[in-house]
Amino acid sequence: MSIKKGFPIFQTHPGLIYLDSTATSQKPSHVIDGVAEYLSSSYANIHRGSYDISEQSEKLYVESKEIVAKNIGAENWREIIYTANSTYALNLLAQSIWRTWILKKWDKVLVSIVEHHANVVPWLILKEDYGIEVEYIEINDDYTLDMDDLSQRLDDKVKIVSLAHVSNTTGQIFDLEKVNKLLDEKYSPHPTPLPEGEGKTAVSHLISGETDWRQWQKRPLFIVDGSQSVPHFAVDVKKIGCDAMFFTGHKVFADSGIGVLWAKEELLNELKPIFSGWGAIGRVEQESFTHSTTLPDKFEPGTPNLSGAVSLLKAFEYIESIGGYEKLEKIEQELVDYTLEKLENTPDIQLIGGKDKNTRVGVFTFYVPAVHSFDISDYLADNNICVRAGQHCAEPFMEHEGQHHTCRMSLHIYNTTEDIDKFFEVLSNAINDLR
Ligand code: ALA
Repeated sequence: MSIKKGFPIFQTHPGLIYLDSTATSQKPSHVIDGVAEYLSSSYANIHRGSYDISEQSEKLYVESKEIVAKNIGAENWREIIYTANSTYALNLLAQSIWRTWILKKWDKVLVSIVEHHANVVPWLILKEDYGIEVEYIEINDDYTLDMDDLSQRLDDKVKIVSLAHVSNTTGQIFDLEKVNKLLDEKYSPHPTPLPEGEGKTAVSHLISGETDWRQWQKRPLFIVDGSQSVPHFAVDVKKIGCDAMFFTGHKVFADSGIGVLWAKEELLNELKPIFSGWGAIGRVEQESFTHSTTLPDKFEPGTPNLSGAVSLLKAFEYIESIGGYEKLEKIEQELVDYTLEKLENTPDIQLIGGKDKNTRVGVFTFYVPAVHSFDISDYLADNNICVRAGQHCAEPFMEHEGQHHTCRMSLHIYNTTEDIDKFFEVLSNAINDLR
């Protein structure tokens, strides 16, 4: 069976050419049916009931976290925190980092200039409220990360380096292992043995008041936005060497409303959560309460998105069922090659992104001089072709590029070369008709 046949939206809308998977992915039957089956057979709240369906529900919730942990190389499922989406995940992490005093006034957070707003605004909130600094790392002409610029910016004030794994506008994959190596080199621990009783945890050296620690070990926390990598290729947090990563379920075939925050267990243990409530608390009295110290409950107050968690379980089961990430990457790579060839032969289109097929995914942002992106996307929509137009939640980058009106076509494994042919055919007509 072709991959496309496994996605019911294409039977509901025959002829639909969906090229907006960076905004959100379509859902395979395995996810749709799996969630329906859960809701009709074992839906109940978790952590509370000793009856059968509550236990089944709890089991699926844990299985969901186990499959996520396995697919991103996490140490164990307790390191997996469910949130609403990527944006919520980083807001939760950034505020918790502030609350733990890992960041202080004048400390710096480094992000790249291509970041999605999800990896910009949570830091700008801390800048607005508490006076931290946010700096933007440049990119090179080929859209790779400017490692020299990063290297020059890494000083003692830098406490966080937070980077997209893949840009949601250029499709460029950043070499994060190289970033990790650079962080190791720049912040290598001092050879002097650490004083007795200090520094039992990964981040205590960064916490306010432990100024002596800064003399010995000052490596910033390394955070990764995996929103556009996890949907496209196998990601291994241990291999990258990061301290935390987040992504959203709806771009990786699961439902919307479920996102993932992963962090090393020792970091999660250290962080003070910003939200609390049932599940995330220990004891509650009239005037005080204690936080839960159990992971992941500590960061998940209230009833979680249970059907979202099941949809994520089903989404990763689906990826495994088609041959895993290896197969997924192969399918997408062919589509990327095909699109790059087509772009070579379409001089009217200005691509904002690199052309090296080995370091990019199927996200193509472009503009056509003298034609407004909204006119192009409307023209394509009239021909049953879905793309996104605008600034793609990356306004600092669009400002940097001097382009505020761009279109973005993005691919996933249910696309075909016929979809791509049709897209280029209709786009050519649009350019002729609109210019
Ligand atoms: N973050 C999504 C995008 O890039 C919505 O389009």
